[in-house]
Amino acid sequence: MCGIVGYVGPRDCSDVLVSALTKLEYRGYDSAGIAVFENGKIEVAKSKGRLTDLVAKMEREGKPVGHAGIGHTRWATHGEPSDINSHPHSGRRVTIVHNGIIENYKDIKKFLIENDRTEFLSDTDTEVVAQLLDFYYDGNPVRCIRKVLHEIRGSFALGIVFADRPETVYAVRCESPLIVGQGHGEAFIASDVPAIIKYTKNYFLLEYGEIAVLKNGLASFCDLHGRMVEKELKTADFDEDSAEKGGYPHFMLKEIHEQPTAVKTTITPRIEGGLPNLTECGITPEALREFNNIFIVACGTAMHAGMVGKYVIEKLARVSVTVDIASEFRYRDPLIQKNDLVIIISQSGETADSKAVLNLVKGTGAKTLAIVNVKGSSIAREADMVIYTHAGPEIAVASTKAYMVQLSVIYLLAFEMAYAKGTIDEEECQKLTLELVRVPEVIQQTIDRIENVCRYVSTKLITADSLLYIGRGLDYALSMEGSLKLKEISYIHSESYAAGELKHGTISLITEGMPVIAVATQNSLFEKTLSNIKEVKARGAMAIVICDLKSEIDLDSANYIIRIPKISEMLMPMVATVPMQLLAYYTSVNKGNDVDKPRNLAKSVTVE
Ligand code: AGP
Repeated sequence: MCGIVGYVGPRDCSDVLVSALTKLEYRGYDSAGIAVFENGKIEVAKSKGRLTDLVAKMEREGKPVGHAGIGHTRWATHGEPSDINSHPHSGRRVTIVHNGIIENYKDIKKFLIENDRTEFLSDTDTEVVAQLLDFYYDGNPVRCIRKVLHEIRGSFALGIVFADRPETVYAVRCESPLIVGQGHGEAFIASDVPAIIKYTKNYFLLEYGEIAVLKNGLASFCDLHGRMVEKELKTADFDEDSAEKGGYPHFMLKEIHEQPTAVKTTITPRIEGGLPNLTECGITPEALREFNNIFIVACGTAMHAGMVGKYVIEKLARVSVTVDIASEFRYRDPLIQKNDLVIIISQSGETADSKAVLNLVKGTGAKTLAIVNVKGSSIAREADMVIYTHAGPEIAVASTKAYMVQLSVIYLLAFEMAYAKGTIDEEECQKLTLELVRVPEVIQQTIDRIENVCRYVSTKLITADSLLYIGRGLDYALSMEGSLKLKEISYIHSESYAAGELKHGTISLITEGMPVIAVATQNSLFEKTLSNIKEVKARGAMAIVICDLKSEIDLDSANYIIRIPKISEMLMPMVATVPMQLLAYYTSVNKGNDVDKPRNLAKSVTVE
């Protein structure tokens, strides 16, 4: 969603802001803007469209020149994408950028109008906050921010400049993420660390209700009550290169290729003596034995990782697992009991609906476990236990390596739980763990073997209006992710279907040439899926089959066969994911789409 940046220091502020905003482009946006102190006066430049449109506008009309300011990429919520609705927004003496939603902005607007504040230019909730800040401003910025914080409701982060406080940037966080970077004689604010990694690896994590003041190149902090706060300086565990494309044409392709390393880095520290060991994450065999029911709650790709988790945990540990979409779970009054475990999966750790689940669970006696990629994110900090995945920064909106490492952690958890509950013995647990250790190498072999095949097959998909992904068992769980990946970046309508369910309605959609991608990696279900493949092909479908190297299928039954290396049936999802990712990627490339920044999408969905 929206991205916030800010800078105070010796560099050209406009350049720093634009460069930092470029690194936040992956979050999704439809307009951009900056506000910079130029000769003691706040100058604003903003534009609908991409950052390149903003830069072009500044080249035409002049860019603000100075050493302190704030910047923003906007993902429209209140009001269409337009120059006027773009941030920054200003009151008479205050200019702000905002990420999130102000829920009570209509009441505040009414209050302001009743008090003769009528100069609203935009449709945004943000402008209302700028006006409210201005209304209360009495020359003390921190006191004014604190007062406004008590009146506005919602989840938000703000970057603020006051006209009579030149060369100073203020920031505040309530729910929406915000970090404060500290360099040598310069300080930054940003929605995410990659935005500033080019300048500094050192940053402070702003907590709920904390206010940051950036002045003279230094950051200081106070809490909601105005008390000074000493904060721990953190150091990012990645560098600028990890946040760059490194020679690949797109982040998505780079991230697909990073998967073998990401899985290895994630699982290696959690294996001891050939067995999973998650005690470092606060998970002990004794605790795992106690859980009666498991809920896995997440959104999008992370929820699909949970679907694989359901099959694997139920099969191995014989515990009932319910998988739910976070935005549904939080409102359906779920039956959570004392000895249940609620697992929240999230790459960003900031997804609003997933985060809300943590509050829901509080007080039920159930325990929460977060599987999260971004260190120090809200979900990671609020859950009872956390398993960090070590994928490094995932920049492409379409998640690939984060899904893969989520799967790897779910397998470790399933193995450990099954062993703890006695549903598998030590030998079986070691065998499964050893097989998981081999997976990074097999993923690499798969990429090497099929990348060109997928590039070719994708050329057959580009004219399709609609397609189906089908599978049974784990292949069905996996096909959900294959379908999402394809639709989000290729813009081809796609549905995933349990192959055995086709005849109950969906097969009527099959017309001549319609692509049907069948995932058929589960040997025990292969014959049944093959029958479904033949059924759709007989009705004119273009059948594309993803199966292992030994599967008995020929070109009479399928139009295209993508063969992948074989490992144990249970772990096949980690291998079969690769062709689905590559098919989506190359279809999007062949259609000329913006692969890393698909339309209308945001990387991190921090509002409901
Ligand atoms: C998938 O490619 C998307 N990026 C999206 O479905 C994503 O997985 C979802 O929004 C959840 O995000 P999270 O993992 O950061 O919570």
